[in-house]
Amino acid sequence: MPASITTDIERAAAVLRAGGLVAIPTETVYGLAGNAMNEGAVTGIFAAKNRPSFDPLIIHQSSPDRILAYASEVPPDAEALAGAYWPGPLTLVLPKKPAVSDLVSAGLPTVALRVPAHPLTRELLRRLDFPLAAPSANPFGFVSPVTAQHVADQLADKIDLILDGGPCRVGLESTIVGFPDGKATILRKGGLPVEDIESTLGHPVAVQTHSSSKPLAPGMLSRHYSPGVRMTILEKTCTADQLAAMDAVIVFAEKKKPETSDGGTSPVYYDLSPSGDLAEAARQLFPTLRKIGQQQYDQVGVFLLPERGLGRAINDRLRRAAAT
Ligand code: TXA
Ligand code: MG
Repeated sequence: MPASITTDIERAAAVLRAGGLVAIPTETVYGLAGNAMNEGAVTGIFAAKNRPSFDPLIIHQSSPDRILAYASEVPPDAEALAGAYWPGPLTLVLPKKPAVSDLVSAGLPTVALRVPAHPLTRELLRRLDFPLAAPSANPFGFVSPVTAQHVADQLADKIDLILDGGPCRVGLESTIVGFPDGKATILRKGGLPVEDIESTLGHPVAVQTHSSSKPLAPGMLSRHYSPGVRMTILEKTCTADQLAAMDAVIVFAEKKKPETSDGGTSPVYYDLSPSGDLAEAARQLFPTLRKIGQQQYDQVGVFLLPERGLGRAINDRLRRAAAT
């Protein structure tokens, strides 16, 4: 039977206590949650997503104290970030305590930790006496879900229940910060802008999000967030002919877009935020990639956003979606 969609927190808690899998709302994206201390549940998460076992999971708890209990060491910069941004769209990668299984951490000596900000999921976590392991609730390599229906569309027959908390407020996954040699390093750009992290810490941080030879965040393979159509990054200086060769284009606050189609030769425009609001663009990104994936387009063009604030994380996802 396909998973039903519910707002009943106690029902979700009962499924999780029994070792089942529940999709949970967070402020970033929906997660596919199971008891992080139950190997059967964790194995089930990898299977439902078709996710390779070398790609570790984030564990979630209701408060900074409860989640930091799984780290064997917390550098001062990690403590400062936890204090400033939890609950919120931040994940810290820290040396793990032995209580965290190698299944969750994919054999790494570190574990990814987060306190999500969605009220329903925080209440759920408060009612449980174990943390939740939760990757984004999409099949491996695809676009992350930002509504309960997105989860149902792709995973309904693989999981037990979907807890509906409405559309995600941020719409991009959490920013992941690790501490190789004790120094804060961005491992994945996300819903917390790099600039905010730097201003809290009072110094610049390294950004190291590309897993080429030495994957620090193994899930950050270049081809991720695939919408299932061919996408090309377009330069601002592209010619009218290049533009006309596209079936659709993704734009941001584009003033020159045609009001009407000229009978089939000009592309359909998807504007992530006509008013130029990066937070709105972040919320619209994954739903737009999903819509585009549902059309039978041959060629989709993308204009990158300003490389600042949330624009940096949005561009990261667009580049990955366009990578082949
Ligand atoms: O916003 C989010 O972070 C969402 C919500 C549900 O919390 N979760 C999420 O999980 O995006 P997932 O599994 O889709 O992405 C987590 C990323 C993966 O790229 C994984 O490789 C990386 O975190 N990761 C997990 N543990 C790690 C570790 N110990 N060291 C480095 N990277 C790690
Ligand atoms: Mg993911």
